[in-house]
Amino acid sequence: MIVCSCNVLTDSDVRTVCHAGEGAPRSATRVHGCLGCSAQCGRCLRTIKKIMDEALGACDVGCQTCPLTGREL
Ligand code: FES
Repeated sequence: MIVCSCNVLTDSDVRTVCHAGEGAPRSATRVHGCLGCSAQCGRCLRTIKKIMDEALGACDVGCQTCPLTGREL
């Protein structure tokens, strides 16, 4: 299911990044960064945060660098 129409990101894209381990993003805008784009209209942020919360559970590890791209966030 597409959750971000501006960047054509799916719920699966978000879950893939959120399951990337210790460096998993902690915010919806960081999810966009890990996926090589940036939030535009912002309508998806709440949905992405909900998917993140479900995927990461009680994770309290911060993220400074995307584990997939190596890009600084
Ligand atoms: S729907 Fe995601 S930034 Fe617009």
